[in-house]
Amino acid sequence: MRIIKKFAQQFEKPEGFLGIIAGMLMSTVGTEKNRWTISLLNVRKDDNVLEIGFGPGIGIELTSKVIQDGKIFGIDYSEKMLQQAQKRNKDAIQKGQVELILTDVQNLPSFNLRFDKVFSINSIIFWEKPVETLKGIRELMKENGMIAITVQPFMKGATEETTKQLGTKIINHLKEAGYSDIKMEIKHMKPVATVCVLGVNI
Ligand SMILES: C[S@@+](CC[C@H](N)C(=O)[O-])C[C@H]1O[C@@H](n2cnc3c(N)ncnc32)[C@H](O)[C@@H]1O
Repeated sequence: MRIIKKFAQQFEKPEGFLGIIAGMLMSTVGTEKNRWTISLLNVRKDDNVLEIGFGPGIGIELTSKVIQDGKIFGIDYSEKMLQQAQKRNKDAIQKGQVELILTDVQNLPSFNLRFDKVFSINSIIFWEKPVETLKGIRELMKENGMIAITVQPFMKGATEETTKQLGTKIINHLKEAGYSDIKMEIKHMKPVATVCVLGVNI
């Protein structure tokens, strides 16, 4: 039982050997969620993009295939995930197209640009102060910049209803943080539906 609990914790902050396995699992089951989220954001080739909680770096990799003139930054506080994402995105990092930063989202760094698009997948549920953090992210965004927060519940017994409840919670967080034009999208995926909540920094 202890090993199962320890493995489950790896999705919050992957560490050590179990963290390596969790990262590998995320890269096999996470692609559909990443692809869908990025499509909803309508990423353009000159956008500057920020991903929070990049894990093994799938979202960063997919985004780097679209972006040509903009820059992609990623934040994650797990050293293991930083290593996996750096390996996956080696060429884009070398070209200067991608920059990955090891930090807690509660200590957002400053950037010498503003973001057109921000996304985060299966990470917000671990943030200690989601509303404060979303406010901080908004300050890093351009006017009319768009944010997408995606979650697929992975607790035992989760249903589509669980997904919708999580979506409603994220809508409220985004409203409280000052975002506008908030909308919720649901996609049927296995093993359970995934929600993406979008908002605009007006
Ligand atoms: C379940 S994984 C999802 C990874 C990736 N987004 C994906 O969909 O494959 C959650 C990620 O969020 C990161 N994370 C959680 N809380 C964080 C925080 N407070 N600051 C920075 N990263 C965080 C974890 O280290 C982990 O890489």
